[in-house]
Amino acid sequence: MAIREILRMGDPRLLRLAQPVTEFDTDALHLLVSDMLDSMRAVNGAGLAAPQIGVDLQLVIFGGNERNPRYPDRPLVPPTVLVNPLVTPLGDVQVDDWEGCLSVPGLRGMVPRWEAIRYTGFDQYGDPIDRSVNGFHARVVQHECDHLVGKLYPMRVRDFSKFGFTDILFPELSAAEDD
Ligand code: NI
Repeated sequence: MAIREILRMGDPRLLRLAQPVTEFDTDALHLLVSDMLDSMRAVNGAGLAAPQIGVDLQLVIFGGNERNPRYPDRPLVPPTVLVNPLVTPLGDVQVDDWEGCLSVPGLRGMVPRWEAIRYTGFDQYGDPIDRSVNGFHARVVQHECDHLVGKLYPMRVRDFSKFGFTDILFPELSAAEDD
């Protein structure tokens, strides 16, 4: 168990196409998941992708059983480890909402995402996951899976009048915020 350094935007390792995981239920994979959980919780992240700690694998974690102080008004998302994910939009509706990212500390931007998606993949034991979700849950999954194809949310911002510093945009969050 260890808290790993989270890479920040500008690091070329955040721009890679991540490789699929080929072996499940291994010590190495369980250690990686454990480190990612520690690293995400240490900074109140809503999610974390393996490339954010410099690991070139298709693995993301997100959600939790407690409300996140960085996103206090958002619904709970079940704690999930998702390996080799595939995301498919359900319908053609996109919605705008604010996003932040542990690799882009201190900033938030308005990002369009599919309102509803189906995502499939596996957990760390190799058991299949297949969920159809919408709203914040769908947004978190799209954000995290974007990290696996080298995309950070600022690359999806369309209206840069809605991109700025978290403590200016949301002064009420500043006490709970460290990014
Ligand atoms: Ni992110």
